[in-house]
Amino acid sequence: MCGIIGILSDEPVALRLVEALRRLEYRGYDSAGVATLEAGGVTRVRAPGKLINLDDKVRAARLESGVGVGHTRWATHGEANEINAHPHASGRVAIVHNGIIENFRDLRLALEARGRRFDTQTDSETIAHLIDEGLTEGLTPRDALLRAVRQLKGAYALAVIVEGEEDLMMGARQGSPLVIGVGRGEMFLGSDALAVGPFTSQVIYLEEGDACVLHRGSRSIFNTAGEEVQRPVTQIDAIAAAVDKGNYRHFMLKEIHEQPDSASRTIAAYVDAIEETVGLPDRPGGGAIDLAKVDRVQIVACGTAYYAGLAAAYWFERIARVPATADIASEFRYRSPVLSPTTLCLFVSQSGETADTRAALDLCRSQGLTTAAVVNVPTSSIAREVDAVFPTLAGTEIGVASTKAFTAQLCALLSVAIALGRHRGAVSRDRERAFARSMMERPRLLSETLKLEAETADIAIDLSRARDVLYLGRGVFYPMALEGALKLKEISYIHAEGYASGELKHGPIALVDDATPVIMVAPADELLDKSLSNLEEVATRRGKVILISTADGVTSAGPSPARTLVVPDCDPLLAPILAVVPLQLLAYAVAVEKGADVDQPRNLAKSVTVE
Ligand code: AGP
Repeated sequence: MCGIIGILSDEPVALRLVEALRRLEYRGYDSAGVATLEAGGVTRVRAPGKLINLDDKVRAARLESGVGVGHTRWATHGEANEINAHPHASGRVAIVHNGIIENFRDLRLALEARGRRFDTQTDSETIAHLIDEGLTEGLTPRDALLRAVRQLKGAYALAVIVEGEEDLMMGARQGSPLVIGVGRGEMFLGSDALAVGPFTSQVIYLEEGDACVLHRGSRSIFNTAGEEVQRPVTQIDAIAAAVDKGNYRHFMLKEIHEQPDSASRTIAAYVDAIEETVGLPDRPGGGAIDLAKVDRVQIVACGTAYYAGLAAAYWFERIARVPATADIASEFRYRSPVLSPTTLCLFVSQSGETADTRAALDLCRSQGLTTAAVVNVPTSSIAREVDAVFPTLAGTEIGVASTKAFTAQLCALLSVAIALGRHRGAVSRDRERAFARSMMERPRLLSETLKLEAETADIAIDLSRARDVLYLGRGVFYPMALEGALKLKEISYIHAEGYASGELKHGPIALVDDATPVIMVAPADELLDKSLSNLEEVATRRGKVILISTADGVTSAGPSPARTLVVPDCDPLLAPILAVVPLQLLAYAVAVEKGADVDQPRNLAKSVTVE
């Protein structure tokens, strides 16, 4: 969940470390720090809070060294203060760590019993002590690292530097990703390819249990058994781009506005505009599964990606007539799921690094099941581990609150449902053609929907004063209600809950009063009348309803809603892709109204790589 970077070069590295951390800040921003070897000794500069605090300190420190490691933290063990900020040091060793060491208490007690003194409350400091202990016993840095990691239980990606070793940087990974960047006379370590992308296009993805020893001109990689192994060098695209807000005040707003483009790119991967067909992408890894063998779909994901999966479960059943279930990844793994060999296990993830989702994928792979992923980062761990990748082409998403990745996930999942339906004979050629046309209209209709920005900003003035907000939706709009509530919670810190509209009368209606706004997502479909009855139930109890619907739906609702937001008319099955946009805009406008930190909300991180 933290970001790590290491650089070994002939030039001073401190400012480049900070530059790389800027690209990694999406992984956590509780504190940041760098360590370099100045005149042979470990020098650390660390600061609590955002990277800007570290930037000033690093500039003032005038660090000269050509070897160093950096870290941006999402706190797990120990308060988010400077003492607990990485890098952690012990004796000759400084390390940065992403992950959680589950047995750190036992290790720490044992180390303390051997006379080691700890400065922090973190699990990570244990690793620095273990390596330094090895060095003081006369082990080589490599052997000290290998011995240390063998004692660790849990997840780690590490970058390590050692006092007196100016031409050395080491790394190791287990459960958390780590890449080596191979430059010209330079070496890099990063918690993802984005970290090293601006420095080199040659990367090596370390495999589970790997450790590496890097010198400026050479590298050695060792597997869990300590044997030297070769891992392929991969050429990556110039992914340094996109850390730029353009003319927008926040990344989130920019990303909301990018949705016509990101949906268009994603749809183009599945829909043949000339033939008007919808199929799985035929790029490498795209279509490596036999749809004829699929008679059930099990979707697994977290957070926003889970809500996309929940909507997709409706689509798989309605469109492809195949049983489908969506599960929250952190629950799925521990409920001993019973899965048949003909189940397609489908993982949805923007980052492709979410630990809960990865653990669920491991479980399915260990049972020999067919796996596929709807994923936005093609080089991510999940993308590399599944049998088939169904890409979303949303581009880099920086805002912690997912927006364009969500609509791209909906586009990809809907396409897979249509393709599967076609394969199973549940979708006729004519219906496929109609779907293809409707899909191709999405970008234009998304642009139309974005015109609601001014109205949402107006509604947000009142909404920002609420203590609680309820979101309601039926059928495929129920997951949109959940997503709307999540967006509001995570960036405005207003308590919000999403419910299935029909469930309201079974309890939550007790919460309805004139101070609790109710946002109902109900574009016209065959369930509209039922949704409007629920709307009346709220209105008669003095609840103020904000209705998001198509023009027909708004007319049918009459005077009961306090406010309305009209989304373009379209095939109701595809309407969630539009209906979620006003929910994103509302959450954004409320957060701005409240002066909240939209792109980096408190306590969150973009990529959650711990369980
Ligand atoms: C979205 O706004 C959230 N920040 C979060 O729920 C996110 O969707 C979840 O952590 C899953 O991430 P992933 O898509 O990268 O797997």
